[in-house]
Amino acid sequence: MNIFPISLVIFIGTLLASSEADISSPIIGVLTQEVYVDGLISRHFDNKTSYIAASYVKYLEGAGARVVPIWIGRNRSYYDDLMHKINGVLLPGGATWFNQSNGYADAGEHLIHLAIELNDQGVFMPVWGTCLGMELLVYKLANETEHRINCEGTGMALPMEFKEDYYKSRLFASISDDVVDTMVKENVTYHSHQFCYTEKVFERDLLNETWRVMSLNHDWNGIEFISTVEHIKYPFYGVQFHPEKPLYEFTKNTIPHTAAAVLSGQFFADFFVSEARKSSQSFSNATEQARTLIYNYMPEYTSILGSAYIQQYLFTNDEMEIPDIPDEGGDNEGGSSGGYIPIIVPGDDGSATTPFLSGLLLTLVLLSIN
Ligand SMILES: *[C@@H]1O[C@H](CO)[C@@H](O)[C@H](O)[C@H]1NC(C)=O
Ligand SMILES: *[C@@H]1O[C@H](CO)[C@@H](O)[C@H](O)[C@H]1NC(C)=O
Ligand SMILES: *[C@@H]1O[C@H](CO)[C@@H](O)[C@H](O)[C@H]1NC(C)=O
Ligand SMILES: *[C@@H]1O[C@H](CO)[C@@H](O)[C@H](O)[C@H]1NC(C)=O
Ligand SMILES: *[C@@H]1O[C@H](CO)[C@@H](O)[C@H](O)[C@H]1NC(C)=O
Ligand SMILES: *[C@@H]1O[C@H](CO)[C@@H](O)[C@H](O)[C@H]1NC(C)=O
Ligand SMILES: *[C@@H]1O[C@H](CO)[C@@H](O)[C@H](O)[C@H]1NC(C)=O
Repeated sequence: MNIFPISLVIFIGTLLASSEADISSPIIGVLTQEVYVDGLISRHFDNKTSYIAASYVKYLEGAGARVVPIWIGRNRSYYDDLMHKINGVLLPGGATWFNQSNGYADAGEHLIHLAIELNDQGVFMPVWGTCLGMELLVYKLANETEHRINCEGTGMALPMEFKEDYYKSRLFASISDDVVDTMVKENVTYHSHQFCYTEKVFERDLLNETWRVMSLNHDWNGIEFISTVEHIKYPFYGVQFHPEKPLYEFTKNTIPHTAAAVLSGQFFADFFVSEARKSSQSFSNATEQARTLIYNYMPEYTSILGSAYIQQYLFTNDEMEIPDIPDEGGDNEGGSSGGYIPIIVPGDDGSATTPFLSGLLLTLVLLSIN
């Protein structure tokens, strides 16, 4: 007589337990990014259309997570499916325009909105944006309105300038006084950006109602800009600097590698991975998980060729398993736009788009260190 109710209780108990599971080794999706047309990668590697700087992968692995690459140029159902399997998303830095079709920004649009949907449904889905990734997060949550200003923040190692109530944020709630002390006294954060957000603009356009600003910094010209934010409602975080570089990039002598800078970078990695541990989502089975993880790919040693990244994972459209790559010659055979070879990224409908206007390319190359 009691058997049914008891088994029901156990069943419900199991459901509750699994929805509150704390995954000790979370899996975080890292968004790929289109390679620069006629840039270093396209000159040295055939058919590679997207990349992930390996430092972002190491950064997450160094805090106990595993990584899956998230492809650009896919349709909503791809992102939707993946977003029900991973435990967090990292939007890396880089250099691309937000108006470029079928690349980083469009994929980010899907990911950010899917993350909002999931969180609204009570499914915890943290998103981290580093540098351009923070810029994209703010841009997308502001309904694609541009609030960035030009900044000269390239090649700067800076201490944190915390705002008074920084410790009231989730990001810094559990930071130790020792780490804070080091962060404010030493040049621990590495900046490499030509755009930034300011508190003035945030207050003017009421982005301060959406984002909590925890720290500021000053660029080469003394312009004050926002260096860390967290979303007030969602587990979304952004840093304008590069916490992964002091740990894993050795391409510029301006990147600090002091014990303090490494400790500081590790703090941010540990925090985000601890957020991802709160998610209980998983792949359907071990095979699917194994086939999706970054271990299926090998990074290239690209700094030896002059890249700002020590190592990069580079992907062809085939590796991204993009079906129906347009192959009719013409468009992707180059020469059509001032000698640049446009990269073809299939759209939702499989049609080809030429992402860049040739006039933008030099600017883009100049931005390549974001
Ligand atoms: C690049 O793509 C072209 C055209 O599909 C192919 O012929 C060539 O073998 C590819 N190169 C490499 C290195 O895969
Ligand atoms: C999305 O792309 C996948 C292949 O990646 C395809 O199987 C699916 O039919 C596409 N869905 C839509 C709605 O276009
Ligand atoms: C994309 O944005 C850049 C920077 O604002 C601008 O210069 C360019 O004209 C835009 N491109 C397109 C195709 O709208
Ligand atoms: C963004 O756009 C949507 C749809 O147009 C609108 O409902 C919403 O209020 C807008 N949000 C902001 C912050 O402007
Ligand atoms: C931080 O960098 C600034 C500017 O390069 C320099 O003046 C300062 O001495 C550095 N501080 C420390 C603690 O290294
Ligand atoms: C945002 O800034 C505006 C303008 O300064 C101010 O009136 C408002 O109270 C601020 N909102 C928050 C949440 O701080
Ligand atoms: C694993 O999951 C994938 C995706 O749902 C499915 O296609 C595949 O058949 C499953 N494999 C096994 C062995 O269950």
